[in-house]
Amino acid sequence: MCGIVGYVGRQKASPILLEGLKRLEYRGYDSAGVAIQQDGQLELVRRVGRVDNLVKEAAKHRFTGTTGICHTRWATHGGVTEANAHPHISSDGMIALVHNGVIENYSAIKKFLQTKGYTFHSETDTEVLSNLIAYHYAKEPAAPAGESRFLHAVRKTLRHVEGTYGIAVLCKDCTSEIVAARKGSPLILGVGENEYILASDVSALVSRTQNVVYLKDGEVVHVTAKQFSISTLDMEDVSPVVDKVTWAIDAAELNGYAHFMEKEIFEQPAALENSMRGRFSEDGSTAKFGGLNLGPVDFRQIDRFAFLGCGTAWHSCLVAEHLIERFARVPVEVDYASEFRYRNAPLSGNPLFFVMSQSGETIDTLGALREAQRKGYKVLAINNTVGSTIAREADGGIYQHVGPEIGVASTKAFTSQLLIGAMLALHVARMRDMSFADGVEYVNALKSAPNLVRKALEQAGHIKAIAQRLAKYNDMLFLGRLSLFPIALEGALKLKEISYIHAEGYPAAEMKHGPIALINELCPSVFFAPKGEIFNKVVSSMQEVKARKGPVIAIITEGCELPEGLADEVITIPDCHEAVLPIVATIPVQLLSYYIAVARDCDVDKPRNLAKSVTVE
Ligand code: F6R
Repeated sequence: MCGIVGYVGRQKASPILLEGLKRLEYRGYDSAGVAIQQDGQLELVRRVGRVDNLVKEAAKHRFTGTTGICHTRWATHGGVTEANAHPHISSDGMIALVHNGVIENYSAIKKFLQTKGYTFHSETDTEVLSNLIAYHYAKEPAAPAGESRFLHAVRKTLRHVEGTYGIAVLCKDCTSEIVAARKGSPLILGVGENEYILASDVSALVSRTQNVVYLKDGEVVHVTAKQFSISTLDMEDVSPVVDKVTWAIDAAELNGYAHFMEKEIFEQPAALENSMRGRFSEDGSTAKFGGLNLGPVDFRQIDRFAFLGCGTAWHSCLVAEHLIERFARVPVEVDYASEFRYRNAPLSGNPLFFVMSQSGETIDTLGALREAQRKGYKVLAINNTVGSTIAREADGGIYQHVGPEIGVASTKAFTSQLLIGAMLALHVARMRDMSFADGVEYVNALKSAPNLVRKALEQAGHIKAIAQRLAKYNDMLFLGRLSLFPIALEGALKLKEISYIHAEGYPAAEMKHGPIALINELCPSVFFAPKGEIFNKVVSSMQEVKARKGPVIAIITEGCELPEGLADEVITIPDCHEAVLPIVATIPVQLLSYYIAVARDCDVDKPRNLAKSVTVE
């Protein structure tokens, strides 16, 4: 949600900044802007719309400066206008700043600054930051010994700010210098050869360096062409830890696919392999995780689990609930992270918390993690982003290892979360009543998941043809039972977010208690009807839809048969173990949503109003 990039080095900053910004575009795409410090001036270009608009405009300017900052915006305070686009320059022209986050006390700061003669030209909360830094810079020409005046002004400003921020700041007077800081919004420093790159996300800098410093909340970094130093708002020095990014830029390229979403759907067999690599016991009967920081004895004390997440990640939590309760017979509670924070739910017994978050930066999930920790609970994270805030603040956890997910609609991260939930269910079940033989069968089933997904993906051509027939509808239902009810929710979410078709997910049997009123020839229903005890029940629900002229799309297990003429479209999935079924059943609905969105000419990777990583409440 908003992406920022900064560059200090020997190269012309503008092309490097804009290349990085393109890679961050999934974080917001309402407007974009760049500011370059050159010839003792701050040069600014901003444009409404995509980064490409900015690139075209920037090409008309002769940017030669080697220091700059840029931003792609997901609007919070203030509409989508050029005036609201970042960077914001202070009214005295001294400071340029880009910001990701929300300044909660901006109104009080603005009033104060207006009394000091500073003027405002946007409706954003951010503009108070550039002006307040300019105010402190002008007011205090002498900084404490050893401190740059620019750095000092940023530090003073941030002490007065309430809210969240990842910022990068330029000063007109300061050649080859950026000051950046974070609280609640991610910021990473790339340490290159004779250059430094700041970014909200590793993908913006990994083409130039794989050496990174993940800044922590409350840290300020002062970067010059020759060095960088990190300190706290209270001027305490911080020794930087330089980490190595383990994936290369290739992982963030389209590599021949039309969209990142398509690429990521087809990457799922490999992603699942990566998520489970090295995570089975030598006897092949259970799953093991290195980062839980909990021994078997501690684990056995746990009498319930609580899972928290948002959106797609919340759907993964629901599947984990089903599998843990089914196989380990331990109660699980699932809550929206955003609700948990404020709901003050009574918690009994000895629960273990898990937060589920691909990005590791979702502010609602982070808030829930902190709330659970505040109450004294241990919180583990299932997370895909090494160095993310959630990964750092959790008491332990499980990395998904699926590489960067760029498409705004989550796909490979979701199925990997389903897999990890299934492995966790096994881990707990084997500490309780699951036998060795059942454990071995379960492990073998999980190991077969990548191949089963490959098989499900072979239906892509068939699903594309169905999608073209369905693309004309404006409403759709997704209906499933048991572990496939969350997959019905996920199918509906995927479809609505990328194709703008109104869709709802429901437990199939609940359909007759209300949503059936929607059924007519203009409202297709996608049914999950896998082989097993509920097959006939789901078939009955299909009959109810058919009787009301609703088109029926049936996702069934290979070899199952439906009554003649019941389904208008049939998609098959390979037969599989219950623990793997949610993963395999997800593939057709991902493909269906993707191809429907393409048929409707939608911007699949950047759906309107959305952003990949939601760092505001
Ligand atoms: C939907 C989607 C979102 C995210 C949600 C949580 O396709 O991607 O619903 O799942 O915003 O994001 P993370 O997992 O990063 O916390």
